[in-house]
Amino acid sequence: MKSHGYTFLGALLCMSGASALSKNCSDILASKYQNYSEIALDRLQEWYRNDTGLWTSYDPSWWQSANALTTVIDMAAAGSSKAKTIADWVVPNTFTTAAAVNIENNHALRRQEENGYVNNYYDDEGWWAVAWMEAYDLYKTQDYLDTAELLFEDMAGGWGTNCSNGGIWWDKAKTGISSISDTLFIQTAAWLANRVGDDKKQHYVDWAVKAWTWFNSSIEYEPENHFIRGGIDVVTCQLPKDDNAFTYSHGVLVSGLTALWQATGETVYLDEAHGVASRVLTNMTKDGVLEEPRIDQAHPGQAAPQFKGVFMRGMAYLNSVSPRDAYATLARKSADSIWNNDRNNTADLGPYWQGPFYGDANASPHSSAMDALVAAWRATKSA
Ligand SMILES: *[C@@H]1O[C@H](CO)[C@@H](O)[C@H](O)[C@H]1NC(C)=O
Ligand SMILES: *[C@@H]1O[C@H](CO)[C@@H](O)[C@H](O)[C@H]1NC(C)=O
Ligand SMILES: *[C@@H]1O[C@H](CO)[C@@H](O)[C@H](O)[C@H]1NC(C)=O
Ligand SMILES: *[C@@H]1O[C@H](CO)[C@@H](O)[C@H](O)[C@H]1NC(C)=O
Ligand SMILES: *[C@@H]1O[C@H](CO)[C@@H](O)[C@H](O)[C@H]1NC(C)=O
Ligand SMILES: *[C@@H]1O[C@H](CO)[C@@H](O)[C@H](O)[C@H]1NC(C)=O
Ligand SMILES: *[C@@H]1O[C@H](CO)[C@@H](O)[C@H](O)[C@H]1NC(C)=O
Repeated sequence: MKSHGYTFLGALLCMSGASALSKNCSDILASKYQNYSEIALDRLQEWYRNDTGLWTSYDPSWWQSANALTTVIDMAAAGSSKAKTIADWVVPNTFTTAAAVNIENNHALRRQEENGYVNNYYDDEGWWAVAWMEAYDLYKTQDYLDTAELLFEDMAGGWGTNCSNGGIWWDKAKTGISSISDTLFIQTAAWLANRVGDDKKQHYVDWAVKAWTWFNSSIEYEPENHFIRGGIDVVTCQLPKDDNAFTYSHGVLVSGLTALWQATGETVYLDEAHGVASRVLTNMTKDGVLEEPRIDQAHPGQAAPQFKGVFMRGMAYLNSVSPRDAYATLARKSADSIWNNDRNNTADLGPYWQGPFYGDANASPHSSAMDALVAAWRATKSA
């Protein structure tokens, strides 16, 4: 495909919000989003530290860096030679260096000597498992897949909460049950099923089906609405009063169910993935741009800025195997809004995609917004 072949006028004439694009407009707009992604990538790398293998973010930059790494790999996999050159250094450097940093900071961890991506939080382990599976897809390095398998096994050790006897705990201290950990467990199992040899595949399919079946019947999920709640109060086993729903658990479940469909051929999983993605399109958008529900625009906290990008990646993956115009339109409108309304002139991308940009720029909101730029690129060039 042409690289950066677009003209400003051409990009103006092609309406990015349109549901169907002419071939010319696809090429022009795809070049535009690739260009945006690559400019943003330069900025992202200013936050990358060679000595830790992490991107400077909100403390502790740990799970956020797994997401930033996934963003870079996604871009390289989508065909950015610029991102590939960066990934060629960053992926192996992070693999060894970040693990060493984690071991250094978590002395008491069981199995730390076996793998530096193990820690006390099952969701963190899921983020890294996904990142290393994407790294494996790009480089076919067996160590990356082995790491994802070991992380899954550790996560499976958290299975069996004291609410409904299923799901995994959020943490090893058993202080919480959260839908993000449960959905990451489903995604990790389903993604592994599509990457390991035939001798192991069924093991992961069985786990993914078991975890999904529990989730679908738990109070974390409303099957009739395809809607995910935030988590379960461990004392009452009910939803907490201030329960919050988030975009990212929906994106993770979309990724998991799409993979489970690919692993089994059962279309119920694909239909469910579309149901979840479509629900977010109507429930968690404003002005046609993705919006995190119940997040104060001026004070988004330190976790939420990462969330929306995760949904964008899940939606882009679903769209790559089962496209719908509405997904491409959401990605393009979000990308345009980020670029036009949520960026300052050093190309920092902020957490509130409708804009305006405000400070607190770091690798977390920035890489999350990049996921929308990359999703727009992917969805447009495949149109
Ligand atoms: C990339 O986008 C920037 C910002 O919109 C623009 O100034 C620049 O001309 C574009 N570059 C190319 C090569 O298209
Ligand atoms: C696409 O672009 C080519 C060359 O720029 C032009 O000749 C052609 O008419 C365009 N087609 C459409 C459908 O716009
Ligand atoms: C990090 O390492 C890469 C590859 O060796 C190098 O190009 C880059 O300049 C280094 N960055 C810093 C800040 O040292
Ligand atoms: C989820 O559970 C509902 C019942 O609550 C059932 O109707 C539906 O088929 C289940 N969905 C899947 C994909 O298994
Ligand atoms: C479940 O276990 C946690 C501690 O691991 C405890 O705080 C909580 O009260 C228990 N809940 C129930 C319903 O037993
Ligand atoms: C989103 O869906 C939830 C659950 O059904 C509902 O409580 C909430 O009001 C909806 N929000 C919007 C903005 O549609
Ligand atoms: C962009 O925002 C960041 C974060 O607030 C700030 O550090 C930087 O100076 C800003 N750049 C410009 C040119 O305003």
